[in-house]
Amino acid sequence: MKVINLGETDSALNNIIAQMRDKDIQKDKLRFRHNLKRLGYIFGYELSKKLNYSVKEVVTPLATAKVSTSDTRLVISTILRAGLPLHDGILDVFDDAENAFIAAFRKYDKGDEFHINIEYCTCPNLTGKTLIIADTMLATGASMEIAYYKLIEEGGRPTFTHFVCPIASIYAIEFLQKRLPENTMLWTAAVDEELTSRFYIVPGIGDAGDLAYGSKL
Ligand code: URA
Repeated sequence: MKVINLGETDSALNNIIAQMRDKDIQKDKLRFRHNLKRLGYIFGYELSKKLNYSVKEVVTPLATAKVSTSDTRLVISTILRAGLPLHDGILDVFDDAENAFIAAFRKYDKGDEFHINIEYCTCPNLTGKTLIIADTMLATGASMEIAYYKLIEEGGRPTFTHFVCPIASIYAIEFLQKRLPENTMLWTAAVDEELTSRFYIVPGIGDAGDLAYGSKL
């Protein structure tokens, strides 16, 4: 799995990440969701440079223009619920993409021990297509690994998979590098050093799902 950290290059992307991290600014849920959607546009655009293109003729009101446009068949998926605005932003970049959704959540056993529960998965055929899995936070990598293999079980093998995770931990990257095949790429904007005992990323942003949609029971 190749890792591309867009946050390593100075760009407006980091202003958005700074707003999402800021404990006061992030309280504005509308802005938080909008920022996630804006990240979706940026990651979608950057990722589009890795797709396949061919030249097509487009008839304008005045003549015919040759334009190189993407032929890659895409399926965008997200892990509910924090990734929803990110998914929406990516989908705005790729109008013809199909969509998949998966619900994976941590079920705490004793103390800080947890396992990942998958309760919902809806997925089109993935065979021969490029899969994008968007999730805002990549903390342990466990949900992502389970979601990836569940989607493949349901939809078949994609030719390539892009993981879009704006905030990632070093732990999760190392974990996934051992468990995912070669034809995968991780896109991130920040790689954070630490995890708390309950597997929250530090410095991170807090609970992305709660920040976007409110707290849960
Ligand atoms: N999920 C979150 O929302 N935040 C973290 O820090 C880790 C996982």
